[in-house]
Amino acid sequence: MSNYHIKHLEEYYQVYRKSVRNPEVFWEEIAEEHFMWRKKWDNVLSWDFTKPEVKWFEGAQLNITENCIDRHLYTRGNKTAIIFEPNDPKESAEHITYKQLHDRVCRFANVLKEKGIKKGDRVCIYLPMIPELAISVLACARIGAIHSVVFAGFSASALATRIKDSECKMVITSDGSFRGSKTIDLKGIVDEALEDCDTIESVLVAKRIDANVNMKSGRDYWLQPLLDEAYHDCEPEIMNAEDPLFILYTSGSTGKPKGMVHTTAGYMVYTAYTFKNVFQYREKDVYWCTADIGWITGHSYIVYGPLCNGATTIMFEGVPSYPDFGRFWEIVEKHKVNQFYTAPTAIRALAKEGVEHLEKHDLSSLKVLGTVGEPINEEAWHWYDDNVGKKKAPIVDTWWQTETGGIMITPIAFATPTKPTYATLPFIGIQPALMDENGKEIKGNQVDGRLCIKFPWPSMARTIWGNHQRYKDTYFSAFENKYFTGDGALRDEVGYYRITGRVDDVIIVSGHNLGTAPIEDAINEHPAVAESAIVGFPHDIKGNALYGYVTLKETGESRNHDNLRKEINQLITEQVGPIAKLDKIQFTAGLPKTRSGKIMRRILRKIACKDTSNLGDTSTLLNPEIVQGIMDEVL
Ligand code: WTA
Repeated sequence: MSNYHIKHLEEYYQVYRKSVRNPEVFWEEIAEEHFMWRKKWDNVLSWDFTKPEVKWFEGAQLNITENCIDRHLYTRGNKTAIIFEPNDPKESAEHITYKQLHDRVCRFANVLKEKGIKKGDRVCIYLPMIPELAISVLACARIGAIHSVVFAGFSASALATRIKDSECKMVITSDGSFRGSKTIDLKGIVDEALEDCDTIESVLVAKRIDANVNMKSGRDYWLQPLLDEAYHDCEPEIMNAEDPLFILYTSGSTGKPKGMVHTTAGYMVYTAYTFKNVFQYREKDVYWCTADIGWITGHSYIVYGPLCNGATTIMFEGVPSYPDFGRFWEIVEKHKVNQFYTAPTAIRALAKEGVEHLEKHDLSSLKVLGTVGEPINEEAWHWYDDNVGKKKAPIVDTWWQTETGGIMITPIAFATPTKPTYATLPFIGIQPALMDENGKEIKGNQVDGRLCIKFPWPSMARTIWGNHQRYKDTYFSAFENKYFTGDGALRDEVGYYRITGRVDDVIIVSGHNLGTAPIEDAINEHPAVAESAIVGFPHDIKGNALYGYVTLKETGESRNHDNLRKEINQLITEQVGPIAKLDKIQFTAGLPKTRSGKIMRRILRKIACKDTSNLGDTSTLLNPEIVQGIMDEVL
């Protein structure tokens, strides 16, 4: 018997030891007993972090949608796979059974084929959280097309960059989306993006808001008539274990987003196994992750992980504040949610509204609470524990990344004693290491350092689309023979990990990773701007907010600063998206720089955080005089 379901702490330690002493035997047992293979592997694992190259289950053949859908048809055909909860609570929820999901995915897959999509082609999905989003993801996987989901809050220019980078042949979108009381013209954004993309052959448009949209003849097609005509069954494409399943873009420290490539077998095994254990999912449970499928959390823990376990997973189209701040709790009560997984920024926003919204609803179905995306502060942790979980539902603080594909450091619900603000212990098979600045591993407890992973795990990203060198430079060059996460962490006296945050140029705002470079690029395009630097500063709800230091080409009072601020934020909205707008913009005479010309963000960060007691030695700067001026005018 393999150890597919871990139930208590001793079992965790025992299975963990087995998974690190003999990873190949361990993962082979898990893969063998719990998944459907068309052909078994020849080799469980081969790896070399210096290239870097990692292969899991090489030689195996499978289709992930057979694991997520087909194999449940006999045992759970009439069980609800997906509950769609619309933006407007007056619109009724939709329950999609495994049988219906099979039918809808197959029809969609046949439409893709009819429009010329083949194995290995890239398909960009730019959709709101409606069933077509999950269905189109699975339809791509069904025929071996590589999906690239772009979060439907990104701007036309961000969308175009992603379409071009992976040379997508098709975009799947909708006539628009609902967001609280507003609607968003998604099709218009796609049209604008496509002005400048020449690889797109067709655009499929789902109807959601009944908007009047432009349909370009020969390129744009309404989805529903095509689905209605399509055949309801579609043989899955047989994929190799290491064939790419999807590309998902994440911000980096340079302007260009990184298209992280995830492959098929290892990703499937690891997301399914973590889902089952971290959340302790049981057959009749209803699970809800509030993330958007545009992010990795949605890929792994709304779609693939839950469906692979035959779970019932909720897709919520709306926002926590519409029609009021009780919406999440109304949904928990309505669908009797057992596992609830959200982000610290949402918890803080809800906590600010007080407990009266909670008190109106019966939350007694909740068994497990989860959090992801950024460090959770102690206050938010306790609010979640006291008021949502009533101290009875363990909080799984799950640390992981787009790059890791699945949850890496986390409590296992009911097994691992939780500790506020701690992600606690490495998941089965995960071997973390804390490193010092000289590249040496720091052993022992009560230490802190840079968080690395020493050994491959099945769901790690294999490369950056079209740029393997960048993959190597970003993740495998800082520390020899180790994957570097970009995060700092500390290990307490019993070996629990607490993630302290990014140590690079990525700032997490409301759970969204934002690289400073693309935002600075957008600002610098303003004709009046000479230079700029972005840093994060603490914000009660968003976790971090953005602070921009901007140097103008011409100083003096000739320009109206308030107008400039608006124009700068407008440029950012167009090029990156509204989530990257700056909360504060300070115009400065210059930016502090090292003698080699590097902007000293560390100093700027401290000033923005109003923590200027220990700025360090500024006398070695190229322009030390600039610092006092910036401090005098800090916002
Ligand atoms: C941060 C999200 C503290 C971290 C799945 C990581 C966290 C980045 C946690 C990845 C957590 C994620 N505690 N920090 N529980 N979870 N992070 O790629 O800095 O959107 O590197 O993946 O979010 O964000 P990404």
